[in-house]
Amino acid sequence: MGKETMYWKINEHLQKSEHAMKEAAMLLNKQEVVAFPTETVYGLGANALSEEAVSKIFEAKGRPSDNPLIVHVADESEIENYVTEIPTVAKKLIRAFMPGPLTVILHSNGKIARNVTAGLDTVGVRIPDHPVALELLRTANLPLAAPSANVSGKPSPTKAEHVRHDLDGKVAGILDGGTTGVGLESTVIDCTAKIPIVLRPGGITIEQLQQVVGDVMVDPALIQAKDQPKAPGMKYNHYEPDAPLWLIQGDIDFFKEQINLVKEQGKKVGVMASKELVQLVEADLIKPCGSREDLKEVAVHLYDTLRAFKKADVDVILCEAFPTTGVGQAIMNRLEKAASRKIVQDS
Ligand code: TXA
Ligand code: MG
Repeated sequence: MGKETMYWKINEHLQKSEHAMKEAAMLLNKQEVVAFPTETVYGLGANALSEEAVSKIFEAKGRPSDNPLIVHVADESEIENYVTEIPTVAKKLIRAFMPGPLTVILHSNGKIARNVTAGLDTVGVRIPDHPVALELLRTANLPLAAPSANVSGKPSPTKAEHVRHDLDGKVAGILDGGTTGVGLESTVIDCTAKIPIVLRPGGITIEQLQQVVGDVMVDPALIQAKDQPKAPGMKYNHYEPDAPLWLIQGDIDFFKEQINLVKEQGKKVGVMASKELVQLVEADLIKPCGSREDLKEVAVHLYDTLRAFKKADVDVILCEAFPTTGVGQAIMNRLEKAASRKIVQDS
């Protein structure tokens, strides 16, 4: 606490946004931190060329300093300013998916502040596909380091009110541009090796990546819990709701059994599941998060739904496991982390 947080509401057509943009850009140029919407989740931005500015991100979020930040730029032509080279695979990915929910990891040329890359010799770069984010980048005329604008460990923010809840009084400003589009973070892909490696599944699916560059590897740690993840951020607890979450792998009868087991212990049960499943169960608090038939819809509502369960209302949240096709892979990656790997499986 302590800071007065400025708050501006902007619509996606940027109507009457000039004044707010100028104020936000001015704060960024004074090495302050400002939260802004992107097409994935809200980001907490700071001048990526200033260690002083970037240190305020780590402070506001309570983020471990060994976890590097993604650098956001407004245009493809800016990427080369911060990297030693852009290999052919990266060029293809940039052409195909940017602006959009993809982050490419490249060799840093050292111009980006050291605390952005957490001492690594690589840097993650992306071009957000959101009019407010792009306009802010252009007005500030800076590359912006920006992690998700939540307190470390909590679900990422998809609405300005989530940012306010976590960071009011800790940041200089919040640009409210409404609900974000994709609802999950960008896919992070390391392009420094010959065959690119997905370090974090996200808005761009593995299938989409394969269509553009053919061979794509997936960080083994995403599949096998015992491996050390290559993206430093992937090893920390993440996305944790207020109450503990268990991920339920099994059919509807198995799900009902798990509800009953928790109820028998005298505990209050929350259920987070597809609208198809929630119709079939009874619990103390039930929140649908989209349709099993439309995983993109589940992605949009995932973090908001996680945030809606409070430990004052439920002792445990039982959550449906979703298919891992398409964006389902990113959804399940986030839910497994939200569950701290507490996965209840039908045998
Ligand atoms: O969609 C997004 O990517 C959002 C919006 C705001 O752009 N940002 C975001 O940032 O999700 P953050 O800080 O919450 O997650 C960044 C992830 C972390 O897992 C981090 O470890 C990884 O990217 N990362 C960043 N730079 C890296 C690097 N040089 N090498 C490996 N992993 C890196
Ligand atoms: Mg994050």
